Amino acid sequence: MPGAIYAEGLVKTFGDVRALDGVDLDVPQGTVLGLLGPNGAGKTTTVRCLTTLLRPDSGTAVVAGLDVLRQPDAVRRSIGLSGQFAAVDEYLTGRENLQMVGQLYQMSARAARARAGELLEQFHLTEAADRPAKTYSGGMRRRLDLAAALVVSPPVMFMDEPTTGLDPRNRQQLWDVIKQLVSDGTTLLLTTQYLEEADHLAHEIAVVDHGRVIAKGTSDQLKARTGGERVELVVHERDRIQDASGVLRGFGKGEVTVEEHTRKLTVPVTGGAKLLAEVIRELDARGVEIDDIGLRRPTLDDVFLSLTGHVAEATDEDNGQKAGRAAQDRRRRKETTK
Ligand SMILES: Nc1ncnc2c1ncn2[C@@H]1O[C@H](COP(=O)(O)OP(=O)(O)OP(=O)(O)O)[C@@H](O)[C@H]1O
Ligand SMILES: [Mg+2]
Repeated sequence: MPGAIYAEGLVKTFGDVRALDGVDLDVPQGTVLGLLGPNGAGKTTTVRCLTTLLRPDSGTAVVAGLDVLRQPDAVRRSIGLSGQFAAVDEYLTGRENLQMVGQLYQMSARAARARAGELLEQFHLTEAADRPAKTYSGGMRRRLDLAAALVVSPPVMFMDEPTTGLDPRNRQQLWDVIKQLVSDGTTLLLTTQYLEEADHLAHEIAVVDHGRVIAKGTSDQLKARTGGERVELVVHERDRIQDASGVLRGFGKGEVTVEEHTRKLTVPVTGGAKLLAEVIRELDARGVEIDDIGLRRPTLDDVFLSLTGHVAEATDEDNGQKAGRAAQDRRRRKETTK
């Protein structure tokens, strides 16, 4: 039986750009799929196709048991969506925004009011609840948009970069909200540029590049695929780097990487903790003092880099915000020099 979110062979072109080139996905009910990929990989396009906002050129998609192409209205009633760019009504207050969503979903005015109150509380927006959303900071808008996606508790949720622009505390709180939702049975597809977020929340990860899923698996499976462990150490004295490098070469399964300015050396290994103990004994025997040593597994960042050849990049929204700030600064400077 297909999962709560199922897609097969989704293709979407925009002129010459093949944004989706045959995306396949299958997300079991009550789990989180993390969609990772560099900028322009096709993540948002995938989300838009699955949420009926965009019609794919070909392929099939089933969400909450409903055919996305044939039953778009029913699909819309069964999903919640928080897009990459917060979609809040600037002129309404935070509270009005949430109440409006409730009423769109045919809640009674009273139920919508109560639900709005709960969400404002949960997303720490109570103080700002009665101010127009246009006075909100970027992070507040994002939180309001996420709250709006949660007004009704739909069985399937889509979140496109939900925590971009949130500070660490708000990000952590959103993670808690997401975990709660999922433990209550919600199925979630989320895209993110924060690999730690995928590591933390996603049961399965799909890496997308050039409109295709190029790798799929749990975080651990992807890490194992990328290749094993490495020993990382920091030498106490710069002039012992060569000696430490010699020791590591003897134990390693590949080249020793040296970062002169941090005195950090890294080498790929197999053999786990036992090997680590041997390395430490050998360093000690040669009198090489170390500040730090450890056995490191590949991170999801390493996985991403090795699969796509990119490091995870800042998003357009980040850049947009930065560009916006730079423009503001320029305007301010102009004003003061007038
Ligand atoms: N409406 C559109 N018209 C033309 N091209 C589009 C349109 N929407 C997306 N694209 C193109 O499709 C490709 C995939 O875009 P998409 O927004 O899905 O990427 P993404 O993975 O979400 O990237 P990001 O990490 O930057 O959000 C890009 O090359 C983009 O320029
Ligand atoms: Mg996107």
